[in-house]
Amino acid sequence: MVQSAGESAMEATAPAAKRAVVTGASSGIGAATVRALVNDGWTVVALARREERLKALVAELGGKAGYVVCDITDEASTQAAVDRILAGGPVKALVNCAGAAFGKDPVATANLDDWRNMYELNVIGTLRITQKLLPALKKAPGGGTVLVISSTAGIEPYEGGAGYCASKFAEKVMARVLRLEQIGEPVRVVDIAPGMVHTDEFSLKRFGGDAERAAAVYAGVPDPLSAEDVAECVRWALAQPDSVDIDSIVVRPRAEGSYTKVYRQQ
Ligand SMILES: NC(=O)c1ccc[n+]([C@@H]2O[C@H](COP(=O)([O-])OP(=O)(O)OC[C@H]3O[C@@H](n4cnc5c(N)ncnc54)[C@H](OP(=O)(O)O)[C@@H]3O)[C@@H](O)[C@H]2O)c1
Repeated sequence: MVQSAGESAMEATAPAAKRAVVTGASSGIGAATVRALVNDGWTVVALARREERLKALVAELGGKAGYVVCDITDEASTQAAVDRILAGGPVKALVNCAGAAFGKDPVATANLDDWRNMYELNVIGTLRITQKLLPALKKAPGGGTVLVISSTAGIEPYEGGAGYCASKFAEKVMARVLRLEQIGEPVRVVDIAPGMVHTDEFSLKRFGGDAERAAAVYAGVPDPLSAEDVAECVRWALAQPDSVDIDSIVVRPRAEGSYTKVYRQQ
């Protein structure tokens, strides 16, 4: 089901040259990205499933953002959202933040539905909305940008992470191949791969609501990345001249050398 609000009101004042769509905008990195882009002069359409959260975010930003409720794993919901967005004007950037990890089981015993759900969201969902917005992005004044928030999980697989890592490897490959296929076209493809980011929900969802297990992920780590740290990478990448494609960024906390080499204070 797709609903919208705020969006129509926003369009009256939206400068077409800097209008972005951010998926996964109801929490964590996506919500921080909406705030960072609005502060940098963008008008933003925030997408996610939880309307109350989107509504609160848009209210906080005083009319510089709108929202459309959208489930990117659902074809009809995504098509309706894209129709709604494009009816509001040109789009210059798509920031794909929607994503999740489900479970941390070994390959031998992993839950097939966890893998399926990660593929549906992180890979197929990202592909679905990217395909639908790509033609409009290429028509944006000066050209458009497709940006994905992948993960260092898409670079270095770790035990228990095969399903999530495989989906993030796939997301990175999608971005890389899209860039190759679109050479000569007015579109940039940017891949931002964060390491450990302490957001409120990511690990909780991964461990099915187990707060103790989620907290253990960040235990003793002096300064994990914040959602705002990653949002700043997005803001900076999008702020470069249209002819400059920030191909990929790997961003980690200083305390993290790799997924398995993390400094923790005792
Ligand atoms: N946190 C980390 O350590 C970390 C590190 C590297 C990369 N990442 C990646 O960064 C991205 C954001 O992570 P985060 O930490 O900000 O997690 P988060 O707070 O859990 O945010 C995930 C967002 O995705 C949205 N979402 C989930 N399913 C959706 C669906 N079917 N359709 C549309 N939106 C959907 C959620 O909103 P609704 O539930 O309202 O739909 C939420 O806004 C993810 O792709 C994640 O893989 C995270």
